[in-house]
Amino acid sequence: MATESAVTENGTGAGAAETLTITDNRTGQTYEVPIEDGTIRATELRKIKASEDDFGIMTYDPAYMNTASCRSAITYIDGDRGILEYRGYPIEQLAEKSTYLEVAYLLIHGELPDQRQLEEWTHQVTMHTFVHENVKEFMQGFRYDAHPMGMLLASVGALSTFYPEAAQIKDTDNRYLQVIRLIAKMPTLAAFSYRHNQGKPYVYPDNDLSYAGNFLSMIYKMTELKYQPDPRLEHALDVLFILHADHEQNCSTSAVRSVGSSQVDPYSAVAAGVAALYGPLHGGANEAVLRMLRRIGSTENIPDFIAGVKSGNERLMGFGHRVYKNFDPRAKIIKQAVEEVFEVTGKNPLLHIATELEKIALEDEYFVKRKLYPNVDFYSGLIYEALGMPVEMFPVLFAIGRTAGWIAQWLEMIDDSEQKIARPRQIYTGARTVDYVPVSARG
Ligand code: CMC
Repeated sequence: MATESAVTENGTGAGAAETLTITDNRTGQTYEVPIEDGTIRATELRKIKASEDDFGIMTYDPAYMNTASCRSAITYIDGDRGILEYRGYPIEQLAEKSTYLEVAYLLIHGELPDQRQLEEWTHQVTMHTFVHENVKEFMQGFRYDAHPMGMLLASVGALSTFYPEAAQIKDTDNRYLQVIRLIAKMPTLAAFSYRHNQGKPYVYPDNDLSYAGNFLSMIYKMTELKYQPDPRLEHALDVLFILHADHEQNCSTSAVRSVGSSQVDPYSAVAAGVAALYGPLHGGANEAVLRMLRRIGSTENIPDFIAGVKSGNERLMGFGHRVYKNFDPRAKIIKQAVEEVFEVTGKNPLLHIATELEKIALEDEYFVKRKLYPNVDFYSGLIYEALGMPVEMFPVLFAIGRTAGWIAQWLEMIDDSEQKIARPRQIYTGARTVDYVPVSARG
C-alpha cells in the first residue's frame, strides 16, 4: 500500500513519476493516476470503486471551479499575474497596435494575417454585413421597447433558419461561410435592435466604413447622406471590441461549446452564448455598474454604499473576477480609453464617483482580503455611455466583440477528437422508488 511519504518522494526527485498515487481508505487499495499538464483525467477516478458494482469515484465541482473541460490554444490567462494573451499575443499590444478584425482573424485562424490575407478577410466580412430583408421584418415584430439583448439573442438564433446549410458543420467551406456571416452580421443585428428600441428606422450597413465605424453609422445616422464617425470614438470602440474578443472558458463561451457539442449549427450555439452573456453576473455587469453609480449619485454616499456591500446586502458591480485575483489587464487599458473618449465627449460626472469608489474599495480590507479589483466592466459602461449608448446596449456591445472568441472556440471544439456531447454527472439527492398515489388519496 502506498503511503503519503511515497507520493512526496515521487514528486521531488529528478525524473519523478508524473503520476498521482491515491489510496482509497475504504478498501486500502492504491491507484496510480497519470498527471498530464498538471491535470488528472476525471474518468481515471472511476476505477476507484468500493465494491464490484460501485459506479466509481466522481468529482463534484459545481460552477466548474477546478475542472478543465477542454484543451485550448486560443487564449491564455494567468489570473494571479494579470496576464491575458490571444494566441500568445499580449492583450496590451493587440489593443494598442491591432484592429478588431485583425484580432478576429488571429483568434479564428491561429496566426496574424499577412497583408493580402487581411485585405481578403476584411473584404469578405464587409461584403456580408447585410441581412436578409425578412430578418429586418422579423425584428420589427418585437415590442416597441424590447430589450436589444433579447432581440439580438433571438435574431442571431433565427439566422439558422435563413442559412439551413449551416447545419452541415463538418463541411469546412460551408462552416467558414457561416463564420464570416456571424462576424459580419452581428453588428447589423445589434444596431437594428438598438434602433428598434429607440423607435428609429433601421440603418443599412455602410461598407465604405471600418467595422467599428460602420456600427456607429448604423447606430447614429439620421438624415445625412453619409455618416462620418469621429476617428477617436471609432478607435475606442474598436479597442473595446478587442478587449472583449475572448476570455477562454467563461460562462458564455462554455455555453457556446456546450450547446455546440450537440453538433447544432453555429447560429444556435452563438445564441446560447448571447443568452449567457445577458445575465447580470456576466455581460450584464457593466449595465449594473452604471445603474449602481447612478444610484450612489454622489461621492458622499459612497461610504454608506460600501457598508451595504460589506454587510452582504449587495455587490460592488464591476469588481471581482473568477480568474483575476490581482488585477484585470483589460481594466487598465479601458481606463486609458475612458480618458481618450472623454476628450471628445466631455467628462461624465459618474466618472468621478467611479474613481472615488475604486480608490475607497482598493484600500478597504474587505475587498483587499478577498482580492477584489476592478474588472473590465467597471469602466467599459462609462465609455459606452459617453458614446451615447443606453445601458441596455452594453451587453450587446460586449456580444459583438465576443463573437470572434465564441466562433474560434466553437471551431476548435468541432475539430477536437476528444470532445463529445457535453453531459455532466450529478449527485442525486432526491427520493427513490416512491409509489404513485392517486390525487384523491393524497393527504
Ligand atoms: N462585491 C462584493 N463582494 C464580492 C464581490 C463584489 N463584486 N465579488 C465577490 N465578492 C465576495 C463574495 O461575497 C465572497 O465573499 P465571502 O468569501 O465572504 O463569501 C468572495 O468575495 C468570493 O466571491 P465569489 O462569489 O465566490 O467569487 P466568484 O469567483 O464566484 O465570482 C464574480 C466572480 C465576477 C461573479 C463576482 O466577483 C461578482 O459577482 N462580481 C460582480 C459582477 C461583475 O462585475 N461581473 C463581471 C465579471 S468580468 C466580465 C466577464 O468576464 O463576464
